[in-house]
Amino acid sequence: MNEHTLSMRLERVAAHVPAGARLADIGSDHGYLPVALARRGAIIAAVAGEVALTPYQAAQRTVRDNGLEDRITVRHASGLAAIVPNDGITAVSICGMGGETIRDILEAGKQLLGGHERLVLQPNGGEQALRHWLMDNDYRIICEEVLRENRFDYEIIVAERAESVSYSAEQLYFGPLLMQARSPAFLFKWQRMLRQKHQTLANFARARQPVPEEKVRDITRQAQWITELLA
Ligand SMILES: C[S@@+](CC[C@H](N)C(=O)[O-])C[C@H]1O[C@@H](n2cnc3c(N)ncnc32)[C@H](O)[C@@H]1O
Repeated sequence: MNEHTLSMRLERVAAHVPAGARLADIGSDHGYLPVALARRGAIIAAVAGEVALTPYQAAQRTVRDNGLEDRITVRHASGLAAIVPNDGITAVSICGMGGETIRDILEAGKQLLGGHERLVLQPNGGEQALRHWLMDNDYRIICEEVLRENRFDYEIIVAERAESVSYSAEQLYFGPLLMQARSPAFLFKWQRMLRQKHQTLANFARARQPVPEEKVRDITRQAQWITELLA
C-alpha cells in the first residue's frame, strides 16, 4: 500500500469522504489517505495529524514527495488537537485504531468539532463502544460497511450530527444499518464471531479457576444475540 494504491480498507474509507472536503485525517501514519485523495482531486485540503514522531515524519515526506505542501498540512499532535478553526474542516477520518481509542480521541477533542463535520471511522474492534459515544453525542450513523481484507474483518462507520439519536443495545453491538442490510461480509463476520464465543464459553467451562459469573453471562448473552441474528 502507498499513496498511489490504497488498501481496499482505505479505498472504502476514501469513498465516504465527500467530494471537495477539507479533511482531517487523525492518526494518518504515512499520510496515504489524504495524499491519495488530494492527488485525485477528490478533496480541497487536508490536515494529517500524527501523535508519534516517526509516522509524523513519514507523512511529511509523503506530502513533500507529491508536491502537496500547499494543500496538506502535517501536524504533530494528539487526536483532534491537530485541527484549528481556520482549517475549516468538513470531514474527519480516524482509521486503523481500536474503537475505544477512536472514542477517546473524539471525547477528548469534541470541543474542537463544529458539529457539521462528517465522521468517517474505521475501528479495529470496539465498535460497540464507539457507536455508544456517537449516540450519546447526537451523531446518527448514516452508512456502515463490513469488509474482509487479509483475513481481517473491518468495519467502517460514517456518522453525522443529528437532532437526537437512539439505538437499541443490539443495534449498538451489530450496527443499526449493518443488521438491516445483512450483507454476506457481515453474516460471515458474525458466523466467525459466534464460533469464537462458543470457544470462549467452552474454555470458561474447562478453566481451573472459576470465571466471574458476570463475564460468563456477558459472553452467553452475546452468543444468544448472534444466534438470533443468524437464525
Ligand atoms: C495503525 S495506524 C493506522 C494508520 C492509518 N490511519 C490507516 O488506517 O492505515 C494508527 C496510527 O494512529 C496514530 N495514533 C494513535 N493514537 C493517536 C492519537 N491520539 N492522535 C494521533 N495519532 C494517533 C499512531 O501513531 C499510528 O500511526
